[in-house]
Amino acid sequence: MDKANPKIAIVGLGYVGLPLALQFARSGVHVLGLDIDSDKVDALNEGRSYIKHVPAETVAAQVRARRLTAATDFTRVAEVQAIIICVPTPLNKNREPDISFVLQTGRVIAPNLRPGMLVVLESTTYPGTTDEDLRPILEAGSGLKAGKDFHLAFSPEREDPANPASKVGEVPKLVGGLTPACLEMAVRVYGQAIKNLIPVSSCRVAEAAKLLENIFRSVNIALVNELKLVYGSMGIDIWEVIEAAKTKPFGYMPFYPGPGLGGHCIPIDPFYLTWKAREFERSTRFIELAGEVNTSMPVHVVERVGDALNSARKPVNGSRVLVLGLAYKADVDDQRESPSYRIMELLKQRGAEVAYCDPHVPVIRPTRDHSQWSGTKSVPWDRATIAGFDAVVIATAHSCVNYQELADWAPCIVDARNAMAAVRVAPGKVWKA
Ligand SMILES: NC(=O)c1ccc[n+]([C@@H]2O[C@H](COP(=O)([O-])OP(=O)(O)OC[C@H]3O[C@@H](n4cnc5c(N)ncnc54)[C@H](O)[C@@H]3O)[C@@H](O)[C@H]2O)c1
Repeated sequence: MDKANPKIAIVGLGYVGLPLALQFARSGVHVLGLDIDSDKVDALNEGRSYIKHVPAETVAAQVRARRLTAATDFTRVAEVQAIIICVPTPLNKNREPDISFVLQTGRVIAPNLRPGMLVVLESTTYPGTTDEDLRPILEAGSGLKAGKDFHLAFSPEREDPANPASKVGEVPKLVGGLTPACLEMAVRVYGQAIKNLIPVSSCRVAEAAKLLENIFRSVNIALVNELKLVYGSMGIDIWEVIEAAKTKPFGYMPFYPGPGLGGHCIPIDPFYLTWKAREFERSTRFIELAGEVNTSMPVHVVERVGDALNSARKPVNGSRVLVLGLAYKADVDDQRESPSYRIMELLKQRGAEVAYCDPHVPVIRPTRDHSQWSGTKSVPWDRATIAGFDAVVIATAHSCVNYQELADWAPCIVDARNAMAAVRVAPGKVWKA
């Protein structure tokens, strides 16, 4: 393979694909990034970043060094040795897995597959996708046989956006191959950029392990969300309870309650398994129950807003309520599945005048799910603006927000993140939610 040519292609340059592409490039591998979004492709080729926690300079350095180029022309996969697929795997409107992006990618790359190439799926999905869904498409479009003529593998991503401990090159990475030779090739390719690879016996095991990791989070978050309500009724603060419990050096791991689940993973991935389990006539009660508890949290938050306003003799109807934090987690700009949207919708349904403030989301861009908010702008952070709301709901605890100013300015605060715990605030002003 010519050194000047890219050696691997990464399809889908989003929250997962871009950091992975940069990690390969930093490790000296030539990367061709492919995406259907020409804005992203143009940005990368101009050395710009479109993800808040990925610095532009990191992108620019790899583009300048000619180790990273991006394109929308998928026939260019013919230039590479390995193709890694990082496209979205959402739920459809009936909350069933939508693997159409994976299948579409399979269709466009198949005609350019050559013998000896490796295809790896990284998108989170149900066990069997690589083998039962992607493989037939690749074989039909290429006329080649997986495991014989080309290699096929699954390797899930473990990205934790904005977590400094989540360094793509250092987080141990699972790899499962269709055959032992597929696995060996995948380990060799990833080994150029990732320190610690963990081979497993099949694509299915790797797919299932990724779902276990995310279901584990969903179930444990649901547990503390439920305990928040139970202990709250007993006058016990769940946050203090968790701090106490986590002093146990073994057998316990802290999870924290919140206003509901958000992001592209935890609210979605568990339902990939519940759907697949039905094919095997297996029920998934734990997973469904966790989903139910977690999706009811925005209702709880809005009830607490009602309680807080009521204590000031104000109805929700006609009150001005500010939702602080639109992104689904602290210090990111990602609003996918953010419970803040649900909270805003519920408040609006009850007649409140709703606004939001998020330093990472200056304006709400058009989305399919929340079109009614499209174009809405984050309100400015100043005393007059914040004091003009009847209540402020802390839905996401961004670290750049000055919570002391919030305590001084806002008349009433409903805190779903325990962000006010260490802040000096007048008694009765903060309502935990
Ligand atoms: N975001 C995370 O923290 C995270 C963590 C682990 C796993 N995952 C999984 O990784 C996968 C990708 O997630 P993401 O967060 O990077 O999504 P994303 O939406 O940020 O990025 C996906 C990219 O794929 C592109 N794309 C869509 N269809 C395409 C197609 N047919 N061909 C080429 N490109 C296409 C989009 O334009 C976008 O740039 C999902 O399966 C997700 O569940 C995400």
